[in-house]
Amino acid sequence: MHSITLIPGDGIGPSIVDAAIKVIAAAGVEIAWDRQLAGMAAVEKHANPLPDATLESIRNNRLCFKGPLTTPVGGGYRSVNVTLRQAFNLYANVRPVISFEGTDTMYDNVNLVTIRENTEGLYAGIEHFIKVDAEKIAAESIAVITKVGSERIIRYAFEYARKAQRKKVTLVHKANILKCTSGLFLEIGREIAKEYPDIEFDDKIVDATCMHMVMKPQSFDVIVTTNLFGDILSDLAAGLIGGLGLTAGANIGTDAALFEAVHGSAPDIADKGIANPTAMILAGAMMMEHIGELAAARRIEQAVREVIREGKYVTPDLNPESTCGTAQMAEAICAKIG
Ligand code: NAI
Ligand code: MG
Repeated sequence: MHSITLIPGDGIGPSIVDAAIKVIAAAGVEIAWDRQLAGMAAVEKHANPLPDATLESIRNNRLCFKGPLTTPVGGGYRSVNVTLRQAFNLYANVRPVISFEGTDTMYDNVNLVTIRENTEGLYAGIEHFIKVDAEKIAAESIAVITKVGSERIIRYAFEYARKAQRKKVTLVHKANILKCTSGLFLEIGREIAKEYPDIEFDDKIVDATCMHMVMKPQSFDVIVTTNLFGDILSDLAAGLIGGLGLTAGANIGTDAALFEAVHGSAPDIADKGIANPTAMILAGAMMMEHIGELAAARRIEQAVREVIREGKYVTPDLNPESTCGTAQMAEAICAKIG
C-alpha cells in the first residue's frame, strides 16, 4: 500500500481532487491518503498557509498530491508553492502536453514535454530596489545558474527521454545575449548530450522557440530550460492543446515528488460543480507512473482520452452546451476503466 500526502486545496480543488481519487481507486491502486491542509483552508483553521503537520507528512511520505491553492492576498504570506519547492528541493517541473482528440484547438498531434528547472535562474529570489533617498531609482534581480543545478536538470531530461521512449531533447536558452548564465547552461547541455548518443539533441534560442512552437509545435519532443523561460514556455505549450484545464504537472525533487494540475483554484466557478477534473486526474496518472503503477497510469490516461473524444460526459469548458459536471465526468472515466 502506498502512503501519499493529500492536499485537497482551495476553490475547485476539493472537487477535482475527489474526482481524481475515485479514478485512481477505479484503476485498482490502493493508497493510504494522508489528508493535510495548505493554502486558504489552512489559513482559516491554523492561521498558517503551510502548517508544520503538512510539511511533516510530506517529509514522511515523500509523495504529495495537491489541489490548487488560493494564494492569500496581503498578510505577508509567502507563496506555498514556492516554499514547498524549496523545502523539498523540487528541482524538475515536468509537464506533458499531448493533443486530445475531440477538442476544438488550433493543432492536432502535439506531443511534447516541457522540463523546467524549478529552483534557480531568475527566480532564485535575489532581488532588490536601489534607492536614492526614498526614491526607487532602479531594481535588480540576479539570475543564478549553477553547474550542479544545470547538470541535474539536463540529465533528468535525457533520462526522462530515454524512459519515455522519446527521441529528441531541445535545450532552450538565450546564450547569444546572456553569455554567462544561459551560456553556461548551454555548454553543460552540449557536454551531457554526448553521454546520450541514442537521443537527438539540439538547442534553440528562446524567442525563436516561441515562434516555432506556435508555427509547428509537432516538431518538439522534450524541451529542457531554465526557470523563467520554462515558466513561460510551459504555459504556452498548455495553450497549444486547449489550455490549463487539461494539463498536469509533476514537481520532482531529491527529497519528495509533488503532483498537481497546472491551473489555479478557479474562484469564478468554485461552487458550481463544473470544474474540469482532467488535469488533476492526469496528475494522478503521472503519480501512478512515478510509483511504478504503470498499468494503472496507462488505463487512466486512455479512459480520460476516450471520454473527451466521445464528448458526451465532458464539462462545459470543453463543450459549452454540456450540462455534465465534475463528478459526472469522473464517473464516466471510472466506468471506462472499470
Ligand atoms: P485559474 O487557473 O484558477 O483560473 C483561470 C481561468 O481558467 C478561470 O476562468 C477558471 O475558471 C478557468 N479554469 C481553471 N481551471 C479550470 C478547470 N479545471 N476547469 C474549468 N475551468 C478552469 O487562475 P487564476 O484565476 O489566475 O487564479 C486563481 C487562484 O489560484 C489564485 O489565488 C492563484 O494564486 C491560484 N493559483 C494556484 C496555483 C497552484 O496552486 N498551483 C496555480 C495557479 C494559480
Ligand atoms: Mg507559471
